[in-house]
Amino acid sequence: MSQCKPMKQLIVIIFLVQVSIFKLSAQEQQKIAFGPYIQQMSMEDAAVTWSTLEGEVIVTDGNGKNDTIRDYKQHKVYMANLEPNTTYSYDVLNDGTDEGKGTLTTYPEKSVPFNFVAIGDTRSRNNVHKKIIEQVQKVNPRFIVNSGDLVANGLSMKDWESFFEINEDFMRNTPYYPVLGNHEKDSPYYYDFFDLPNNERYYYFTVGDALFVVLDSEGLRTTIPAFTSDEMKDAYWHESGIDYMKTQKKWLEEVLKLNRQAGFIFIFQHLPLYSVKKSRVAESKMVREFWGDIFKRHGVQAFINGHDHHYHHAKDNGVHFITSAGAGAPLYDIDAVQPETVSYKKIEHFMNIEVNEKDAVLHVIDIDGNEFDTIKVKRRKTK
Ligand SMILES: [Fe+2]
Repeated sequence: MSQCKPMKQLIVIIFLVQVSIFKLSAQEQQKIAFGPYIQQMSMEDAAVTWSTLEGEVIVTDGNGKNDTIRDYKQHKVYMANLEPNTTYSYDVLNDGTDEGKGTLTTYPEKSVPFNFVAIGDTRSRNNVHKKIIEQVQKVNPRFIVNSGDLVANGLSMKDWESFFEINEDFMRNTPYYPVLGNHEKDSPYYYDFFDLPNNERYYYFTVGDALFVVLDSEGLRTTIPAFTSDEMKDAYWHESGIDYMKTQKKWLEEVLKLNRQAGFIFIFQHLPLYSVKKSRVAESKMVREFWGDIFKRHGVQAFINGHDHHYHHAKDNGVHFITSAGAGAPLYDIDAVQPETVSYKKIEHFMNIEVNEKDAVLHVIDIDGNEFDTIKVKRRKTK
């Protein structure tokens, strides 16, 4: 009799993931979740937008652990035919409470002194982000630009909930302009929450005769498969993303040509052109080579970026290149100072930028409100 081989036991563990969707009552849905906040500001128009809670999704993993993900509905009203440089109060609820109230100030027709704020990489350390916003509110800017990585994961609604909680009071009265960072992950939430000019990825707006251009340095990078090696990532970027970037570059040439009479030009994008972080120097060189001499040729005064979590000021051919990414993400060491470097500091900070008749002054301010660097630029010479 032949000996029976012991039967191999095959143990299959199946993790069941259950998803439950709950609809809310009409009363719960009316409550404002995020906002109201201001978008699409100009001399005569503005949009006020807010979100209400629509439903909840409970995701249960194989161990019975629940996670609640909320679903929000976005509301938006456009206000047209406003007067330039004028403050209006608004109330999106009109229910006798302050919940739906805010103010907006339209942009000026002509060049008048104003100030705006630039911050970057608010994506984590909510306590730092909160303190920075508290300091920002003290300088009362006309608007704010965040140079990207607003949140740690653009696909996580929880991250956006924290973002709006921190910015709730501020955004009620101040337009907020975001820049796409790698952490946004090209998330549909980003495009739902923000209502931006042009294609929303790269766009521009003007305040008086100052021009503000927001670029998208991320392009199609988010489509690179996870298994791609670092060497191949460059090839992937050049070969599959280059058409998108070339279209954007052509658009930028046109925008700068059309706005050649601007007194000031500020450009924003997430990736730096001059990195002082050793592991990123090669990438920044690649980005710099892509843009070439476009900023110098058009007399751009300041190029402001995020991504490297510290402060760095470089100057090349009359253009100031500023990394301002100290509003939340963990700070990076500076280990590769460049020949173009003017100053640098590993510090949490933001920039308050005053645009005057003859010059613009960039005040670089730390989390305690102390100014530690100042950059002055002159009004552009226009024909
Ligand atoms: Fe980044």
